[in-house]
Formats: sequence, structure tokens, C-alpha cells
Amino acid sequence: MRILVTAGPTREPIDPVRFLSNRSSGKMGYAIARAGVARGHHVVLVSGPVSLTCPEGVVLVRVETAAEMLAAVQAQLPACDALIMAAAVADWRPRTVAKQKQKKGDTAPVLELERTADILEAIRPRKDHRVYVGFAAETEHVLDEAQRKLEAKGLDAIVANDVSRADAGFEVDTNQVTLIAAGHAPESWPLMTKTAVAERLLAWVESQRR
Ligand code: CTP
Repeated sequence: MRILVTAGPTREPIDPVRFLSNRSSGKMGYAIARAGVARGHHVVLVSGPVSLTCPEGVVLVRVETAAEMLAAVQAQLPACDALIMAAAVADWRPRTVAKQKQKKGDTAPVLELERTADILEAIRPRKDHRVYVGFAAETEHVLDEAQRKLEAKGLDAIVANDVSRADAGFEVDTNQVTLIAAGHAPESWPLMTKTAVAERLLAWVESQRR
């Protein structure tokens, strides 16, 4: 299959030296990309800024902002059979980006934010035969929130991830997730390495190939 994977955070600039971002390390998405190549797939990885090495055989597209990630996903989508959105895309960005470094001054600045595009929502009309998988990073009501996003974004499956656990989610090498496939009961997977989660997720994606 030709699989498009997104990974890492996005960075939304405030001025030339500052940005808004999140704790995503990219480890889950990079594990999926690596496992995809090992399983014989053609893998394109659209990655936000991370400190990981691109796995051998993976086509890497580097992006910074949510807008750049959207553009890269849109450009790669026509040639892909499956999309796995493991990236932690920023939901908000500063409404204006200062051209010069902002000085601290005497009063605290107020940042006015605006929504970034929701990538999965934007590409929903172009789903066609493609398998779409999302991730849901949650700290409470994990399964309910994941189920809501699965339906709201029209996905084939969502990987529910409780990121409040020390051994799952951001930055660590292990993960404990629940796969919710559309129309099926949630399937809770044991605590595993991110590599093992990636293998199992790809086996599921392969089983969906139409
Ligand atoms: N996602 C996306 N575009 C965004 C935000 C998120 O495509 N602007 C994708 C993520 O890559 C993930 C899924 O949507 O696969 C769910 O992301 P998550 O951050 O958990 O949820 P949100 O849609 O941001 O919803 P909420 O703010 O309610 O948690």
C-alpha cells in the first residue's frame, strides 16, 4: 500500500524567536513509518519539528505549521491508499505574527489566537477508497471523546490515547491505546512499545484494504 503518515507537533509562530506548540515527540508516527516500510509499504511521512532520524526508506516531508502540514497532506493524498494522522496539530495560532522579536516591556502581552484548519475535516471530501485513521490524545473521558472524533471526522478508525499516563502518549517509548473502528466495539490493546502498536495498527489498516 501507499501510506501517508503525519507525526510530531506543529509550531505556530508568535515572532521570529517564539512559537506555540505541544509535547508531541513524533515517536508514535515515526514508529508507524518505520514499521510501514518494514512491512513492504511505500511510506510518506509528513513531520513537524522533532529530534528523530527519518527511518530508512521513508520519504520525508518536513513542515512547521498546521497550514504547512495541511498543504503537504493535500499534495500527497492523491497518491495514497491510507492516511494515519498521528501528528498533534496545533488547534490555535497567533492571529498576527510579529516581524521582529517582541521586547518584554512592562506589561504582559495579550496573544490573540485564531483557529488553524482541521486537516482531517478539510480532506474528508477526498476520502474516496482511502483508509483514514486518526489519533485522539485525551486526558479525560478518553473513549467518549475518541468516539466523538471518529464520527465527527468521518474516520475508519481512531486510536484513543490517554496521554495523562506516565507510560503512554507523549515522549515515552511505550503506549497503551484503544482502537475504535467505525461500527465496532472499542478494542483495548495492552501496554506495548510504540513499535508494537505501530505493527498492530498497520495490520489493521492492511485488513481494511478495499
Ligand atoms: N487533527 C487534524 N487537524 C487539527 C487537529 C487535529 O487533522 N487541526 C487530527 C489529529 O492529527 C488527530 C485527530 O485530528 O488524528 C484528533 O486530534 P486531537 O488533537 O485529539 O483532537 P481535536 O480535533 O483537536 O479536538 P479537541 O480539541 O476537542 O481535542
